[in-house]
Amino acid sequence: MDIALHVNIDHVATLRQARGTRYPDPVEAALAAERAGAHGITAHLREDRRHVNDRDIRVLREVVQGTFNLEMAATDEMIAIAIATRPHHVTLVPERREERTTEGGLDVLGQRAHIERCVRALSSVGIRVSLFIAPDPAQIDASAEVGAVQIELHTGEYAHEPAGRRASQLLALAKGAAHAAGRGLRVAAGHGLTRENVGPIAAIPACVELNIGHAIVADAVISGFDGAVRAMLDAMYRGRSGAGR
Ligand code: PXP
Repeated sequence: MDIALHVNIDHVATLRQARGTRYPDPVEAALAAERAGAHGITAHLREDRRHVNDRDIRVLREVVQGTFNLEMAATDEMIAIAIATRPHHVTLVPERREERTTEGGLDVLGQRAHIERCVRALSSVGIRVSLFIAPDPAQIDASAEVGAVQIELHTGEYAHEPAGRRASQLLALAKGAAHAAGRGLRVAAGHGLTRENVGPIAAIPACVELNIGHAIVADAVISGFDGAVRAMLDAMYRGRSGAGR
């Protein structure tokens, strides 16, 4: 297929952090995603380490067979980690401590010199840099000008509209994707995508990669529940009958 799926495994780590256990391991989820056909794995190392941590990033870099995409803020700390870890791609995202998830696109225009420095530092060691932006032609042009090879269009506004009221957001994304491709940028998209709303985004010809996390983790929890309960009952009954001793 000419469209790739990069699975974001952050919220497997969210579940782990909720109990301070070693499981579920986002690395195991990444391996399962690749076995199922995912073309790449995405993880967001946040300043507060609220889900994915430094160990996860190091191990993912070693075990992911496809593309490993590190999402991160454009800070000195993160640039140093990326240079030490060498993910295939880095996606620069805006990050606010109090936000629940990445809420808006990166303002490349408003901090052009800083973003350009970050892109140059990452590119100089062979990391391909993507910028997570709104489908705004001015931000797309600025992204090309600072040396990014890819943009990821923020699909959050599209995804949050109810079905039937998404036409203007979809048009903006399709136009943005075409504009970016015309500037020589590779085009990805993501945020808030689900099985219900992904179709029209996957149909945008210039868009070649989708980054999807929360909906996949949520679907995995529900679709895996039956098997998990059966496996627990099995372990209990084996213990009860003495087989577990
Ligand atoms: N792309 C970027 C840049 C993101 O920050 C996120 C959320 O971490 C995603 C894609 C995935 O969004 P979701 O978890 O809603 O699928």
